[in-house]
Amino acid sequence: MAAIETDDLRKRYGDLRALKGVSLEVDEGEFFGLLGPNGAGKTTFINILVGLVRKSGGEARVFGYDVEDDYEEARDAIGLAPQEFNVDRFFPIEEVLVHKAGYHGVPKDVAKERAEEALRTVGIYDKRDTRFHWLSGGMKRRFMLARAMVTEPDLLILDEPTAGVDVQLRHDLWDIIKRMNEEGTTVLLTTHYIEEAERLCDRVAILDEGEVVEVSTPDELMGRGKDTVRVKLSKDIEEPPATLDGDYETRVEDGELVVETRNAGGTLAEVLRELDRAGHEVVDIEMSRTSLEEIFVDMTRSHEDVTRTQTTGDGQGDGA
Ligand SMILES: Nc1ncnc2c1ncn2[C@@H]1O[C@H](COP(=O)(O)OP(=O)(O)OP(=O)(O)O)[C@@H](O)[C@H]1O
Ligand SMILES: [Mg+2]
Repeated sequence: MAAIETDDLRKRYGDLRALKGVSLEVDEGEFFGLLGPNGAGKTTFINILVGLVRKSGGEARVFGYDVEDDYEEARDAIGLAPQEFNVDRFFPIEEVLVHKAGYHGVPKDVAKERAEEALRTVGIYDKRDTRFHWLSGGMKRRFMLARAMVTEPDLLILDEPTAGVDVQLRHDLWDIIKRMNEEGTTVLLTTHYIEEAERLCDRVAILDEGEVVEVSTPDELMGRGKDTVRVKLSKDIEEPPATLDGDYETRVEDGELVVETRNAGGTLAEVLRELDRAGHEVVDIEMSRTSLEEIFVDMTRSHEDVTRTQTTGDGQGDGA
């Protein structure tokens, strides 16, 4: 059974179509990323799943439970770390966790154990008697994760869990989330750190202006990029040697040979051999690969242009 299944999910805020028919399926046990520029509709999508926002059309189910008709079952399966902090300022954080677990039906003594364990896992146990308000920014992010895990949810939804945290903490949080996923928890993650998606996600969906532009594995997306190899020779050249005519493109920049290829590993040996044969001496080699970030930016930018033309073409479409 799918952990998340949406079919033609739509949301309107007045004239604004925040979701224009999103159909996605996230498998049980999967680590799934939702990527997209600001305003793409990621948080709206999540808020519909957890019942904070009412959909305008389409369907959404969590482990088979309809998010509106079977609200409680669906909500009980989810642990959410929201993008915006929404924590009671006045209670010590451990108490907030105990309340949270209790609210989801965990007995009181178990709730206390779970709360302590969650605080230890995210490394802020020594702050257990402090109010949320008095935690540092990074500790607040840790706490949001602790609160999401305290009910031991089958589906963990993390809306930019590492926004604004330092590199070390980000790596710590990745380890915790990864471990939970390995132990069977399904994870839905949104992030603006493409590296985060690349490292953690089995699959990613790219959302732009309320529409899914792509669902793919990070590797598959990376595979669409190109490798660039720059070769510096002992003497500057004016044109690429004519013997370089394989399945790659060549040009000369600042006297250096530049080769663009889908597969630098295979191409490089061949290029070096041909250069040697033509009597060139190689002084330095530099390789770079299109990053997932560049591919992502490229995909959302071109989509933006397309939708803009469509909007001017057919006026205000009626999606909801
Ligand atoms: N309550 C609301 N009322 C009106 N418009 C809203 C509301 N919530 C969101 N929107 C609009 O819906 C669109 C999608 O917003 P959403 O928060 O889902 O984007 P997002 O992908 O999460 O962006 P970000 O990366 O900045 O968090 C935006 O244009 C936003 O302004
Ligand atoms: Mg958001």
